[in-house]
Amino acid sequence: MMRKNDLDSNPLKQFDKWFDEAGASGETMPEAMALATASPAGIPSLRMVLLKGIHKGGFEFFTNFDSRKSLELETNPNAAVVFWWKNLRRQVRVEGAIERIDSEEADEYFRTRSRGSQIGAWASHQSQAISDRAELEKLVKDYEKSFSDREVSRPSYWGGFRLIPDSIEFWEERPDRLHDRFRYRISADKNWILERLSP
Ligand SMILES: Cc1cc2nc3c(=O)[nH]c(=O)nc-3n(C[C@H](O)[C@H](O)[C@H](O)COP(=O)(O)O)c2cc1C
Repeated sequence: MMRKNDLDSNPLKQFDKWFDEAGASGETMPEAMALATASPAGIPSLRMVLLKGIHKGGFEFFTNFDSRKSLELETNPNAAVVFWWKNLRRQVRVEGAIERIDSEEADEYFRTRSRGSQIGAWASHQSQAISDRAELEKLVKDYEKSFSDREVSRPSYWGGFRLIPDSIEFWEERPDRLHDRFRYRISADKNWILERLSP
């Protein structure tokens, strides 16, 4: 059961608490989130990505900057993500605008990835059509060769985005579909307003 008084006045702190509880409940990938973007005409598209942390007031994930999602975000920075933590019967929805993570932070994260993933980032022209899997595997071999004697650098077209929330909703299942919903939204003077929503 959720009570307004038990919620942190800062929704990012409240998120951290629920994220930790989701992990502790045995959720295998609590960091998996569905990311919605839209074209400039407002046509939506949706895919899963992984939350890699909350820094500088936003939800961070990494991807290919030439992918469909990135092209949509470059022309329309509005985005939304949703988490579903089924063990605890909880959902969190986040909405806001996206900014790019600076290159130093992207380099830092890229260095923590396995060599295979680093080579994969070079070989994948994410969201482009390719003739067959052999084409991809050939690119992997080529990049393994060119990086054989050195550290794999981060491709300029690979990096991260940060979703700066202007609204975050915490939802928890209750009997008879009378669920608890609390939404934080940012006011004109940049304070968080917390409201209970009808289920
Ligand atoms: C659980 C899960 C996690 C994923 N995490 C990422 C991710 O962090 N970054 C990413 O670029 N793609 C990730 N993907 C793949 C994306 O869902 C998607 O296929 C890819 O990014 C291309 O999307 P786009 O064509 O809309 O840009 C993930 C897929 C799944 C199922």
